Amino acid sequence: MPALRFFSFVAACCVVAAPAHAVKTKVEEVYREHCASCHGAAMQGGSGGSLADGLWNHGSTDQAISQAIAEGIPDAGMPGFKRALSPEVIRSLVVYIREKESSNRPAARPVPAAASTVPVKTTHESYLLETMLDGGLETPWALAFLPDGRKLVTERGGRLKILDEAWKPLPEPVSGTPSVVPNGQGGLLDVVPAPDFDTSGWIYLTYSAPLPGDSPDTKTSMTKVTRGRLSGNAWVDGETVFEGDPDTHTTRGVHFGSRIVFDRGYLYFSIGDRGDAAKAQNLSVPIGKILRLHPDGRVPDDNPFAGRSDAHPAIWSYGHRNPQGLVVDPQTHAIYATEHGPRGGDEFNLIRNGANFGWPLVCFGMNYDGSPLTAKTEMEGIDAPLHHWTPSIATCGLAFYNGDKFPAWSRDFFVGGLKGGLHRLRLREGRVVEDEVVFDSSVGRVRDVRCGPDGFIYVVLNQPDRIIRLVPAGGVADAVK
Ligand code: HEC
Repeated sequence: MPALRFFSFVAACCVVAAPAHAVKTKVEEVYREHCASCHGAAMQGGSGGSLADGLWNHGSTDQAISQAIAEGIPDAGMPGFKRALSPEVIRSLVVYIREKESSNRPAARPVPAAASTVPVKTTHESYLLETMLDGGLETPWALAFLPDGRKLVTERGGRLKILDEAWKPLPEPVSGTPSVVPNGQGGLLDVVPAPDFDTSGWIYLTYSAPLPGDSPDTKTSMTKVTRGRLSGNAWVDGETVFEGDPDTHTTRGVHFGSRIVFDRGYLYFSIGDRGDAAKAQNLSVPIGKILRLHPDGRVPDDNPFAGRSDAHPAIWSYGHRNPQGLVVDPQTHAIYATEHGPRGGDEFNLIRNGANFGWPLVCFGMNYDGSPLTAKTEMEGIDAPLHHWTPSIATCGLAFYNGDKFPAWSRDFFVGGLKGGLHRLRLREGRVVEDEVVFDSSVGRVRDVRCGPDGFIYVVLNQPDRIIRLVPAGGVADAVK
């Protein structure tokens, strides 16, 4: 009896003591163990071909690649792995192969130099980069234009700054703005003037807010929306528009979202999953959601889950990981969001009333540590992205181009990436037909993209912290190949 009890104690102890991460299979290890002997340590090829040269003998789609891994290609000497590796692990291998393939791909075009007079030629337009502001900003996060020519910039650390017509920051930040919790990805995030700013003067901010009454050095926070007005260089008339319940506040410093847009008199904004993926599927919390409110914070009666006792009434769509780009097509009123995914699996989504966007049940990516996430890239009842990026570009910032300076880019989308530079997407009949790298990450980490009222495309960069714009190169465009 004592021996038996000892045995069961050891068994129970082992089960409990084995930390979850110890049993996770990392894609790098799976590759080394099962694939490197034939395809080479760096996928450069051996007795099996290169998996990183962009050339595919048995099909280039994700589906063809996972089929080759699962079923093998018996005639060519490629063994099948479906008995040795789970579908989730096979999906993670596809993501890993895509990462290597992409890192070997030559740059799409020469890296544009700021202040260079040599235009960069893209498929439909040629542009020059101009630097509007270099220095004087710390991790700028969002840019907004005021009708009188002034600009507003948020700094993630918590400061709101006014730039004058010549893009010169006022010597002091705006005083009296709400105090933020600058924990990890949190801080002062989006800034958007109300559509009726001319008459109302309202300016909206999203930020990681402490619990009311908490000490200023707390790490506990939640995305909050507030509005206020500018009186000279002071923030006045501050009003809470949205605030999470106390139990939604956490010390996790990730996935706050957050962007704001207005459409037809409603305010839409995004909140990420706050590092707790399951909450994105939980309708009772506003986490991992895009929300819709009246601009004064009241919940519209016709929200999809309003009136349900088990749901947060402000929810407009759910199943989001970290949407950091949100725009409206002013002609069709369609709302689009970019979502910062895990490792592989950034998304461009058409946001629909009441729709589920699948995080974390359905995703094209894997975990950052290379462990598998899911094999499911689609599922009944879940809206598929219009486009996804594997590998990730780390999406942040999204603009809809409705300016007049680049006519051949009319109605295209500009997607920022912290790791992927600036991408241009073209949507035709509900399908993304072009994804072009306008400039790559060597220009900087793109934090925000806006179509300015003057029709130029403005980009907020981090590392180095700058604001640049794209201007048309005009007649000299063809001088460069
Ligand atoms: C015993 C050697 C061997 C091993 C081990 C092996 N492969 Fe292969 N693999 C091959 C050969 C040979 C081909 C066929 C090459 C061809 O026809 O171009 C191939 C083809 C492929 C293809 C299709 C390539 C194309 O051009 O369409 C993929 C994808 C692939 N392997 C992935 C893997 C992965 C992932 C692993 C590890 C889980 C793996 N292979 C393990 C030998 C191997």
